[in-house]
Amino acid sequence: MTTEAATVDLAALGADFTRDPYPVYAALRERGPVHRVRLPEGHEAWLVVGYEAGRAVLADDALSKEWRNAAPDLGASQLSAGITMLSADPPRHTRLRKLVAREFTMRRVEQLAPRVQHITDELLDRMGPTGSADLVDAFCFPLPIAVICELLGVPFLDQDSFRRWSNTALASTDRAEREAAAGELTTYLAGLLAEKRDKPGDDLMSALIHRADGDDDDRLGGDELMGMAWLLLIAGHETTVNLISNGVLALLTHPDQLASLRADFSLMDGAVEEMLRYDGPVETPTYRFTVEPYEIGGTVVPGGGQLVLVALADADRDPARYPEPDRFDIRRDTRGHLAFGHGIHFCLGAPLARLEARVAIRSLLERCPDLALDAHPAALAWRTGMLIRGPESLPVRW
Ligand code: HEM
Repeated sequence: MTTEAATVDLAALGADFTRDPYPVYAALRERGPVHRVRLPEGHEAWLVVGYEAGRAVLADDALSKEWRNAAPDLGASQLSAGITMLSADPPRHTRLRKLVAREFTMRRVEQLAPRVQHITDELLDRMGPTGSADLVDAFCFPLPIAVICELLGVPFLDQDSFRRWSNTALASTDRAEREAAAGELTTYLAGLLAEKRDKPGDDLMSALIHRADGDDDDRLGGDELMGMAWLLLIAGHETTVNLISNGVLALLTHPDQLASLRADFSLMDGAVEEMLRYDGPVETPTYRFTVEPYEIGGTVVPGGGQLVLVALADADRDPARYPEPDRFDIRRDTRGHLAFGHGIHFCLGAPLARLEARVAIRSLLERCPDLALDAHPAALAWRTGMLIRGPESLPVRW
């Protein structure tokens, strides 16, 4: 066993790593399941690569997600305002998740299908029968944001500001910039919550506010309410945008797979799973912290709040789990992929994200029979940071 390891400086790899991190992860995986790294965000962390190790770490409650357990030198750079289930351990995690879990059941989400289709059709109508556009702007971004706003009962959202703050808070590698954007977003959400408190509706946010104001044992604290609003809005769109963008990009750069799908849309569900596995929107999920010394594949990560990060992007490209992992194949068996995480923090919104991607991509392909990329794939700019993976823009013509 060893506790010594040279630090791999991921920050120094710059834009090449952002554009295509997969070979870097694969090379690390060849050497072992855990590596000391410096992140583009500046922190030092322990990066877990490979499928088995990644899955085991995600499911292990020996690691904490609470920032109070983080080593002091990580600073208070928690992603969100307030307290969220994603940054809570049981029993608080269990309680917060239970409060909204019923809104995200398969059945509840299926009831949303006609609305998702309607919003999709409206966006496609706006794009018109022929033209060219940045698909992220015209389609991939507005769809999930409209859906999550509807679910939460946010009637009007200043989409441009919201997108700017949210993108910066999640993907900027500059800490001051991240914190400023997070502050603006928090102020904005506080305003939304106040409006809802004055004019409650028949929606999720109103129900949660009612919980916060109620006097039963399961009251949501003010920080918890802010955290929940923040988490659902951010997690509800930042990821889904990139599932649609990355998925469309994978299809447009693999014409044989696109042709198979166009010929038989019953392959759609499997195709979306392969999009999640092949180039999922979450490259490495949120931070986990050691409490005690923690062993991964013979390496001991010290206790005391060391940051442990799981490379989901690498787990799903591990040849030990998926043969020829770098091949995009919409017919492959993708079962067990980790794009939505694993264990108690498994993505609550997975049924909704799947529904949106299936409806969006099918409708887009049906409306635009000759949809094509309007840029060289290598020229695309990618979102910075290691949390979210997706192109900043996706020029297409149809
Ligand atoms: C393709 C789209 C999506 C992907 C790839 C995705 C991915 C993930 C991942 C990997 C996690 C676990 C993070 C970790 O363990 O550190 C997670 C958690 C979560 N996701 Fe998603 N997500 C997506 C869409 C959504 C949507 C649409 C919503 C809600 C409307 C949502 C809500 C949540 C919540 C609330 C959690 C925290 C669950 C917990 O801590 O128990 N996600 N997601």
